[in-house]
Amino acid sequence: MTIFQFPKDFRWGTATASYQIEGAAQEGGRGVSIWDTFARTPGKVFNGDNGDIACDSYHRYEEDIELMKKLGINTYRFSIAWPRIIPDGDGEINREGLDFYHRFVDKLLEAGIEPFCTLYHWDLPQTLEDDGGWGNRRTVDAFVKYAEVIFKEFSGKINFWLTFNEPWCIAFLSNLLGIHAPGNRDLQTSINVAHGLLVAHGKAVQSFRRLGITGQIGIAPNVCWAEPYSKSPEDQAACDRSIALNTDWFLDPIYKGSYPQFMVDWFAEAGATVPIQEGDMEIISQPIDLLGINYYTMGLNRFNPEAGVLQSEEVDMGLTKTDIGWPIESRGLYEFMHYLQKYGNVDVYITENGACINDDLDNGKINDDRRISYYEQHLAQIHRIINDGINLKGYMAWSLMDNFEWAEGYRMRFGLIHVDYRSLVRTPKESFYWYQNVIKNNWLET
Ligand code: NOJ
Repeated sequence: MTIFQFPKDFRWGTATASYQIEGAAQEGGRGVSIWDTFARTPGKVFNGDNGDIACDSYHRYEEDIELMKKLGINTYRFSIAWPRIIPDGDGEINREGLDFYHRFVDKLLEAGIEPFCTLYHWDLPQTLEDDGGWGNRRTVDAFVKYAEVIFKEFSGKINFWLTFNEPWCIAFLSNLLGIHAPGNRDLQTSINVAHGLLVAHGKAVQSFRRLGITGQIGIAPNVCWAEPYSKSPEDQAACDRSIALNTDWFLDPIYKGSYPQFMVDWFAEAGATVPIQEGDMEIISQPIDLLGINYYTMGLNRFNPEAGVLQSEEVDMGLTKTDIGWPIESRGLYEFMHYLQKYGNVDVYITENGACINDDLDNGKINDDRRISYYEQHLAQIHRIINDGINLKGYMAWSLMDNFEWAEGYRMRFGLIHVDYRSLVRTPKESFYWYQNVIKNNWLET
């Protein structure tokens, strides 16, 4: 038996996102987002599912907060739906939307839970997408306006802020691979989107400082550690490109003020360039206070000229997979956190980590031991990372409850709490009680 003791002030939390849990899509003056549109486009989301009702957390947030209290978390990461605040993107402010999040944040605070707020978790107002989306500076300016509204309203209540969730997904999964909204498949568009959101990030950080808002701000990239299939330079380079696209492509501009040159050259050969305007790189490289890291899996990559723009192919390592098909390998988190040190020993929060395990109710219980084992492995690595002297300050399990898993609809379950999508009844899984125990002890026993 091993006991892994965590630091006294460690933040234990869970994470969710607005479109995935709120529902009430036509209520409270909410505008239409690109996910409302995408989910209604035949063939885009498994089973034609959408977020109209989701977990109905818009109405059931008090019940959800009761469950959070029971779980014992001291931090809750959630996102604000931009279309609830400024329904058409950059026009009138919707007071009803702000009031909803005030009620919600007040309840969290009353429960002694620190709100950790993501400004953008993918629900872009449709009107802005119709006008060119993140590739158009109108969206950048609209985001800054929206961010300023939120900053002013919630300064003093919220102390942890993230501008963007998973920029790689926003840019490349959604605009190069076409798997997420808005579903484009074009390299230049994806690079424009990546650049637009980086400028929006930098401008929002500038506003945050200028307005003197409370707390700390950062961004949350999704990372996927990769190792080369062989020692050949081609495989090594293919692997480097794969890591760089989700990490360095975003963090180099933020921490160093420039894009990784080898990737700029690679894209130039494919005919795409970054639309940098004067002053952009200074704006993007505003100092930030913290970094969120979303980690789920790692890959073994090799060069294959047929494997998309990056010509980098993932090879099956024969590892056990979660039910969504992602190999389980916690060592990648450890390796990645060391790789990250090239940007300095910055404050990091694991803003997402978790497993899709589709175990269902069996005699009123959900015995999701495979999820528990996933969490155990990853928390043991986190303990090692902290022991190495890396500033890892907190951990947010994805997710508090089963929810709308984007293109996979409701069939993929990541929650510590089971949701019956017909009755909307919430049932804590065995992993919930396991996590409750870890938090209560502030140590992990394996
Ligand atoms: C990434 C995203 O941020 C979140 O929305 C998603 O549900 C989980 N990871 C699982 O795929």
